[in-house]
Amino acid sequence: MTNSVSDALKRVKPSATIGMSAKARALKATGRDVIALSAGEPDFDTPENIKEAAIRAIREGKTKYTDVDGIPELKDAICAKFKRENGLDYKRSQVNVSPGGKPVIFNAFLATLNPGDEVVIPAPYWVSYPDMALMCGGTPVFVETRMENGFKLDPKDLAKALTPHTKWVLLNSPSNPSGAAYTRAELAAIAAVLIDFPNVLILTDDMYEHLVYGDFEFTTIAQVEPRLYDRTLTMNGVSKAYAMTGWRIGYAAGPEWLIKGMASVMTQTTSNPSSVSQWAAVEALNGTQDFIPKNKLIFQERRDIVVSMLNQAQGLKCPTPEGAFYVYPSCAGLIGKKTPTGKVIDTDETFALELLEAEGVAVVHGSAFGLAPNFRISYATSNAELEESCARIQRFCASLS
Ligand SMILES: Cc1ncc(COP(=O)(O)O)c(C=O)c1O
Repeated sequence: MTNSVSDALKRVKPSATIGMSAKARALKATGRDVIALSAGEPDFDTPENIKEAAIRAIREGKTKYTDVDGIPELKDAICAKFKRENGLDYKRSQVNVSPGGKPVIFNAFLATLNPGDEVVIPAPYWVSYPDMALMCGGTPVFVETRMENGFKLDPKDLAKALTPHTKWVLLNSPSNPSGAAYTRAELAAIAAVLIDFPNVLILTDDMYEHLVYGDFEFTTIAQVEPRLYDRTLTMNGVSKAYAMTGWRIGYAAGPEWLIKGMASVMTQTTSNPSSVSQWAAVEALNGTQDFIPKNKLIFQERRDIVVSMLNQAQGLKCPTPEGAFYVYPSCAGLIGKKTPTGKVIDTDETFALELLEAEGVAVVHGSAFGLAPNFRISYATSNAELEESCARIQRFCASLS
């Protein structure tokens, strides 16, 4: 008899972003004035029309089990969204709806990975990718990007990382944590490498599609290179675009064999995503899209405040990202310096912990996202809180010697 957890779970570490938010909450509970810039969710409420659709669904008794990987009405709304916004044609049988974007990826990995299969992940990456690959028996292979290239995958580096064992290549544009988004030409250059590896599947996580700023035009790889359509899983969700993180609806479209496999996983695990949330998602995708451009403008203004103020902090360098609601400044200029209490800033993790301790600002260290020394700020909060927290960061940086 043993009370130890499985080998699969031992391979996994808990999410650093959730960990940092918990530390911030704990400090706040002691009465400290804490600003958490660590959580990855919009601060807006779900739009009224979407809430009303959910209330209607409850009243109409749409409260039972549904088809395991999504109701036909939502699959149709998803097909219409891919056609309208991405120029991609999918049938219902090519669509999966899961309880959030996270399970879409997990279901895809569980349905396809065998021990020894490699999953190529550009770094910095969203914290869950490597651990989900590990849980499903795969081996993450990291390809570092560079700040000078806007944290974008260099096609030459991608080519070097591909082997006969590569099962998946993951793309995430705009990126969590860097905010970097790929242009059509950049995606075409990546596609040109992938064309020569016909056994490789591509997972593109387009969760932040609607959060791109200025005149940046979002595109996705299956649209840019139709020859990759048959082996691309184009993933998206309503969590970020429609401020619906708690509703738990993510979706993806791709080849039928894969979608069937993902549905099989769901038949033995979660079953269907919440029926009520699915009806809310139908309204999110089919209803008015007014919410999106309004939010974009708000987020763009916040991004500009944060980038400008961080670049005025001693020792920090913050590129201007194209999208999402994150920035990923480098704190390389502060490594080796000391706090007034004598603590040496030896890593970005120490930087984040000391910043929280000294100024009550919670950020997430870059080493958690696979590229250091950096840190991630989520700017999904009010301008006033952003200005206050960036002023505190400036003060903290100036206090180091
Ligand atoms: C890049 C990326 N993909 C997927 C997700 C997961 O979204 P969901 O909350 O729908 O599971 C997130 C959430 O933080 C994310 O940042």
